[in-house]
Amino acid sequence: MNPIFTSSICLLTAVIYLVSLILYRLYLHPLSGVPGPRLAAVTSWYETYYDLFKAPGGQYWNKLDELHNSYGPIIRINTNEVQIHDPEFYTQIYAGGSTKRNRYARSVSGNGSPGSMASAVSHDLHRLRRSSLNPFFSKAAVLRLEERIQSRVRILCERLSGFLERKEIIDISVAMTSLTLDIITEYSFGESWNLMDRDDLSYDFIKVMRGGFETLQIRKLFNSVIKLIPPSVLAWSSPDMKVFFEFKDVHLHFQLEALDRLPKEEIETQRLADEALVLITAGSETTSRALATIIYHALENPDICTKLQQELDAAIPDANTEVSYSTLEALPYLTATIRESLRISALVPNRSLLTADQPLQYKQWSLKPGTAFCMSTSKYLLDASIYHNPTVFDPERWLGDPQSTQKLLHHFVPFSRGHRGCIGMNLAYAELYLVSAHIIRRFDMRLYDVIRERDVDTVRDAFIGLPSAESKGVRIEIIQKRK
Ligand code: HEM
Repeated sequence: MNPIFTSSICLLTAVIYLVSLILYRLYLHPLSGVPGPRLAAVTSWYETYYDLFKAPGGQYWNKLDELHNSYGPIIRINTNEVQIHDPEFYTQIYAGGSTKRNRYARSVSGNGSPGSMASAVSHDLHRLRRSSLNPFFSKAAVLRLEERIQSRVRILCERLSGFLERKEIIDISVAMTSLTLDIITEYSFGESWNLMDRDDLSYDFIKVMRGGFETLQIRKLFNSVIKLIPPSVLAWSSPDMKVFFEFKDVHLHFQLEALDRLPKEEIETQRLADEALVLITAGSETTSRALATIIYHALENPDICTKLQQELDAAIPDANTEVSYSTLEALPYLTATIRESLRISALVPNRSLLTADQPLQYKQWSLKPGTAFCMSTSKYLLDASIYHNPTVFDPERWLGDPQSTQKLLHHFVPFSRGHRGCIGMNLAYAELYLVSAHIIRRFDMRLYDVIRERDVDTVRDAFIGLPSAESKGVRIEIIQKRK
């Protein structure tokens, strides 16, 4: 057959296929009636443009905010995905109880740990994996861990005293990541990585881990190619990332206790390593950023710092004593400050996409089983209809009359809700209280060349929220020990 004729037929077939696909997605697809930009309905490159190419990357979560303003509470954000922004609908999306929720497979394709509970697509598999870990993250389990957290706070305070003696500047965001990693690795593996012991608080190592988040958007797109590369080659190409590429022979200390509750295929080595990787990455940078945010806003606003110190001085008359988590939890201003940090810092801007086996009805829209849906937890926490001046760090908003505080708590979802909500919430709270209270009680500090927009606020979605690429960290000077 004439090669020109063959190529023309192929080209024509491709064009007909493409045009039919576009027409189908625009006019016949089950989501064709949902408002939103036509380009997003036709191709996922619309999302890719904002997440990968629009500086500084990870920008679709911000673009979606603009789209809600133009199109309303429900928008089609991709060919098969919708985002709803409606505070009263959040708990139907992130439902618990007898409602089943599957993870949308495309959304976890790049996270590098397919065997983890967080990546489990089916609702039932997720429940199985989660049930084996739940007992180790209950409030009672975390209270049993309190002494170990206190001992890490002790090490942190010793390190801060060293920086004071040497009159050195310290990046508190690095110190907090070392601390949270030391805690979660000790708990998970029975042996801490002891990152706080190193002179630079393991800054180089932490940069590597943060680099892993920075590449998330690329990994999401090219995951199928990256999966073909053996871990040894990846480790060779990027020696700093070696520890993560070769994360295969580790298992969680406490998984040993849970093994008899899991079927054989669930205790395969690589799956256990995937679970461990998610726990240490999810359980470190998030809490660390919340802690650095507390320190930043307390030092930036002398009024907030004074109120915190007055409350802490009364609760801890001798600065060198250690106070229990339960005592600290009862302090209203500290509690309000912690809540405000969790609210304002957009720690997890990730679109947490789920699907349902049953149709999901939102107003006049009926979403078919298998349709991916989400609501942005971070944008919910910055919703101006709930929080007056949402970008202002204002602990007082939590200290109004009980009814208004109750209303705010109804909408307070930093750890998400339902089956897929954060398993580490109790651990995170214990760390937030014990660390922030003890260092604010013990040290007078001041900021060193910190710019909120550059160094503190989340500007990029890299699953967790990241500050700008130009960030110099949250650097502080320790002025003196407090009496
Ligand atoms: C301030 C600190 C933290 C915040 C704001 C936070 C927030 C969240 C959010 C919003 C989710 C849901 C993500 C999604 O639906 O895609 C999540 C899930 C998760 N978090 Fe956290 N988290 C924090 C600390 C921790 C800690 C300390 C751990 C350590 C164990 C942890 C482990 C996890 C895991 C394993 C998941 C997946 C849960 C599942 O799939 O069932 N997080 N977290």
